[in-house]
Amino acid sequence: MENELIIVLDFGGQYNQLIARRVRECGVYCEVRSYRTPVEEIQKLAPKGIIFTGGPNSVYEETSPHVDKAVLDLGIPVLGICYGAQLMAYTLGGRVRSCETSEYGKTETFYDKTCELFADMPEKAVSWMSHTDYVAEVPEGFRITAHTENCPAAAFECPEKKLYAVQFHPEVNHTEQGITMLDSFVKKVCGCAGTWNMKNYAKTAVEQIRAKVGDGRALLALSGGVDSSVACALMAKAIGDRLTCVFVDHGLMRKNEGDEVEAAFRDRSVNFIRVDASERFLSKLEGVSDPEAKRKIIGEEFIRVFEDEAKKIGRVDFLVQGTIYPDVIESGTGDAAVIKSHHNVGGLPDCVDFREIIEPLRMLFKDEVRKLGTELGLADYLVWRQPFPGPGLAVRVIGDITREKLDILRDADFIFREEIAKAGLDREINQYFAVLTDMRSVGVMGDGRTYDYILALRGVTTSDFMTADFARIPYDVLERASVRIVNEVRHINRVCYDITSKPPATIEWE
Ligand code: XMP
Repeated sequence: MENELIIVLDFGGQYNQLIARRVRECGVYCEVRSYRTPVEEIQKLAPKGIIFTGGPNSVYEETSPHVDKAVLDLGIPVLGICYGAQLMAYTLGGRVRSCETSEYGKTETFYDKTCELFADMPEKAVSWMSHTDYVAEVPEGFRITAHTENCPAAAFECPEKKLYAVQFHPEVNHTEQGITMLDSFVKKVCGCAGTWNMKNYAKTAVEQIRAKVGDGRALLALSGGVDSSVACALMAKAIGDRLTCVFVDHGLMRKNEGDEVEAAFRDRSVNFIRVDASERFLSKLEGVSDPEAKRKIIGEEFIRVFEDEAKKIGRVDFLVQGTIYPDVIESGTGDAAVIKSHHNVGGLPDCVDFREIIEPLRMLFKDEVRKLGTELGLADYLVWRQPFPGPGLAVRVIGDITREKLDILRDADFIFREEIAKAGLDREINQYFAVLTDMRSVGVMGDGRTYDYILALRGVTTSDFMTADFARIPYDVLERASVRIVNEVRHINRVCYDITSKPPATIEWE
């Protein structure tokens, strides 16, 4: 994608992706690779620099991930972080030992400003430490460039060989000016210009897509989510009406959502097909109240509808998918229990006759996908759309689904979202929505008794959606939403706010 490349060799550190993101923030393209990547392959990639990540192991254990010493002899600058620093020391003949007092958390650190990494740093600042081993002796030819109270070699270097190491985590926000150190590494040590940005990315990606597709045709399943929308906009720019995007409207979208998606893509030069399949989905879902059964039905029906459309279109050369980089990095690692069978429009290849898959966002992180969307002229409401589950409102209407319940939920959810936006909390709270429970309760309105549905509101803050905290929405905002919902939406007479985090709850209710 770019001549300037930094590679992050992953030794199992929890911050592997974060390091790559930070390097990209410095304007340099960066990819995460396994520590097993052969040295010949690294040479072929010709990176301007290499970063070794942290990891949970001890270098002196035989089963720990190690690195081919040849990587350190390539003449390419290397920065070792935490385990990566210990590994560099160990591989080159230094000594690593178990700490008497392990260091964890914010730690006062003293920097030697003559080291290129720290030239723009104060002499003393806080770094983020998380280690139980330490480098007791640096390898021959190295010198120590930072220390803490308990860690004599918090950083060390051998500038002649362009090898640098830090025991702390510069990629974590708690390390003061960590980004300055990474910036110094990629620019001063590795000599990168730092010109990578979304404008250039879009330009190169468009050229590459054109070269690959030639005069072929491509098909994309558009869900209206951020990833498929941005993939669509990018493909549209590259190949125009040789792209057909199929937007399956399952009738389980939020208020106005289907029309918004249509409006965003109708006028782009692509073939846009909106399939109103709500009847099909709703009749299949009739009387079904088990969450997993709902998810399965929707997932399968989605594929059937898409298949029917694909048959009408005939053979295409490429199927476009909105896979993003975290999926690529994480793929193949999960063997965790299935809590919910997720349905995405990503996994459809079996039902379409095509030659190859194109994943134009494959190398981008979510925030970069958003930036690219903006670069391509997509409206904010699409680019900043919060995650929305593939099965849509079906998993937010508890119990069996009817058109009436969906309409009630849509109206209530709309009001809640509006109030959150009015309060300026829409980017701060990562996901927020309403859930229509299947419980009813007694209320009083005017002078009469009501017996109507209980609505639940949910708001969470999270960075990865794997764990989440319930959002501390101010009471007055909740109150405004509650008053409006009960007044404006028929059949809701009570509103609750979900104060459970994940775990033990999940974000969605089903
Ligand atoms: P849970 O409810 O498992 O959700 O805590 C975590 C995140 O995933 C979203 N979600 C889905 N996304 N297809 C998707 O693409 C699905 O089937 C699905 N189910 C849940 C959920 O909204 C939250 O952001």
